[in-house]
Amino acid sequence: MITAALPYANGPLHIGHLAGAYIAADIYARYLRLQGKDVVFVCGSDEHGAAITIKAKKENTTPKEIVDKYHAIIRKSFEDFGIAFDIYHRTSEQVHYETSQEFFRILNEKGAFEIIESEQYYDQTAQQFLADRYITGTCPKCANENAYGDQCEKCGSSLNPMDLIHPKSTISGDTPVLKKTKHWFLKLDAQQEEIAAWLETKKDTWKSHVYGQCKSWINDGLRPRAMTRDLDWGIPVPPEIEGSEGKVLYVWLDAPIGYISATKQLFREIENNTTEFSYPQNFGPSLQNRKAEDWKAYWQEEETELVHFIGKDNIVFHCITFPAILNATGQYIRPDQVPANEFMNLEGDKISTSRNWAVWLHEYLQDFPGREDELRYTLIANMPENKDSEFTWQDFQDRVNNELVAAYGNFVNRVVTLIHKYYDGRLDEHFRKTQRENDSIIGKSILETEAAIAQNLEQFKFKEALSELMSFARAGNKFLADTEPWKLVKTDPDKTKDILAVSLDWVYALAIMSKSLLPKTAEKILDMLNADVQDNNPFNYQLKEEKLKSAQILFPKIEDEQIAFQLEKLNKSKQDKNEILKQVQNDDIVEKSEISNLKSEITYDDFSKMDIRTGKILEAEKVPKADKLLKLLVDIGMEQRTIVSGIAEHFTPEEVIGKEVSVLVNLAPRKLRGIESNGMILMAEDENGKLHFVNAVGVAPGNMIK
Ligand code: 2FM
Ligand code: ZN
Repeated sequence: MITAALPYANGPLHIGHLAGAYIAADIYARYLRLQGKDVVFVCGSDEHGAAITIKAKKENTTPKEIVDKYHAIIRKSFEDFGIAFDIYHRTSEQVHYETSQEFFRILNEKGAFEIIESEQYYDQTAQQFLADRYITGTCPKCANENAYGDQCEKCGSSLNPMDLIHPKSTISGDTPVLKKTKHWFLKLDAQQEEIAAWLETKKDTWKSHVYGQCKSWINDGLRPRAMTRDLDWGIPVPPEIEGSEGKVLYVWLDAPIGYISATKQLFREIENNTTEFSYPQNFGPSLQNRKAEDWKAYWQEEETELVHFIGKDNIVFHCITFPAILNATGQYIRPDQVPANEFMNLEGDKISTSRNWAVWLHEYLQDFPGREDELRYTLIANMPENKDSEFTWQDFQDRVNNELVAAYGNFVNRVVTLIHKYYDGRLDEHFRKTQRENDSIIGKSILETEAAIAQNLEQFKFKEALSELMSFARAGNKFLADTEPWKLVKTDPDKTKDILAVSLDWVYALAIMSKSLLPKTAEKILDMLNADVQDNNPFNYQLKEEKLKSAQILFPKIEDEQIAFQLEKLNKSKQDKNEILKQVQNDDIVEKSEISNLKSEITYDDFSKMDIRTGKILEAEKVPKADKLLKLLVDIGMEQRTIVSGIAEHFTPEEVIGKEVSVLVNLAPRKLRGIESNGMILMAEDENGKLHFVNAVGVAPGNMIK
């Protein structure tokens, strides 16, 4: 039972979504299906919660309009990229309402809830209780002023709205008041021991960052968590339950139940033969002719392995809350694996929907039609499996041109082209008889490669698996370069044929082994080879017809202009950023916290390249005709430096003389208004844009800051 996080239907998909959860889930599902395993792979749109209502408010429309619009867009992108779900469902469907309410009833009957009356923030102007995401304020842990009521995105702390210092409603901008309300809380504390013991059994098999996050939750002690909200968007608490009026299920209660309702829906459709409504009908033999009731096996039988693919921001919900819910029913299994990925950044900055700092999947396909696997390849190669990673357009171009084109595509193309050139694409008897004597003629064993890929995929090491595949392709390419059949053909036609026969088998094996990692490419090759794929045995190449189809270029080169165009597009959105920032400050909290995000990771080496020292400003004067610049003479211990600093709008020359400062002394010299500047003064900018010197008071000039 494989699930991929239900994306919020509040915006289109971008590369971060693919890299975070969906490609990994897709590879894994395809791999297991190829193994003949009984696999169900579900996903769908997450249509409740504040993410949706905030977006509706922003677009001046209704939540329903929002989810309908984005559900269609998201589904189309998944389909275009060939993410092979058995069903792509949505949480606004009837079956999901029923399933979620049923869960609520069961939990209620089993005593998993306690009703707690508490004071919640209420917006008097808007006359409504505020969902966590509608409250911002200062994070008590890191002082980020734009933390949400449920989480600080800067330091990652999980918060309660009451934790926020200076809370503010994002609806009216008012300071909310506290008002009494009753909610159903899941007694997570009652399961503390049990969950801790269960997580302990995962210690060696779960990714360490996933286990580590869970562990710290456990160590902090689990507390009851509200599973209902006072909202008018969501699934109503079952009406027969006393006090349910005006209450809906918390989105993080209903969303993961969405996996179960999607599974139910899938089996209903299979039984009714209406699977054309499913998406995109990838299910293997194990899902043929099944009954509606069969969904249960995937969620309620011990031998089922449940695997949740998610991004790291969803860990607590999938590793603690949802398992606690499943467990409390006494009927459901808990996940075996939650191979969460971390985040992928873009060109040095966090991907952000609202700032338009993203590579949108639908736009990518407009600019690079038919080139899904090139993006997929780059995203797998940079998959944030255990730490945040980075997508850059330059890297995309390099990987496509130097890896896919130069090694993989070139190998396949040369083999098929040469067979056409010398033998009209026909494989005669001699050809077919030339079987591999052993499995490693071209320097890389099919068997070993296949085993290595399998082993890596089973451990969710997708990057490793891809690099095994590529090293196989490179070996093929090298084999051709070493044996040079295009020269040999003049002197030794028989040997040439042997070489090409072996190479062709290797191309076939490459295609079979690419099926889960690069599925569209695998299909293209198998089509070119006219292969009759009976099984997925890489040794068993059978022709459908007597002749190969003509060679197709698998991966055209990515031109510099294409990359320049993409970078320009991104930079344009960066220029628009100031505009957006203004807008953000008025009405949108989501972006605000994203703007103060951390830069991407660097190594200690990167850091240690900077020579930062204490200094003292000796002289200062305005630079003529430059409003922003001051020319400074700075004592940095061993010498005095001229530094031109952009602080003239903040300080007069007189104010800065004698100031103790921090100086980056090994910055390359730069001419500003004809004056050579030799270093940079470090400043801190506060939230009002005011600058402050960063200094080590009382430390003599020339001392290292490290
Ligand atoms: O973070 C998100 O995008 C959520 N919509 C994920 C939900 S996963 C699951 F529980 F459905
Ligand atoms: Zn914080």
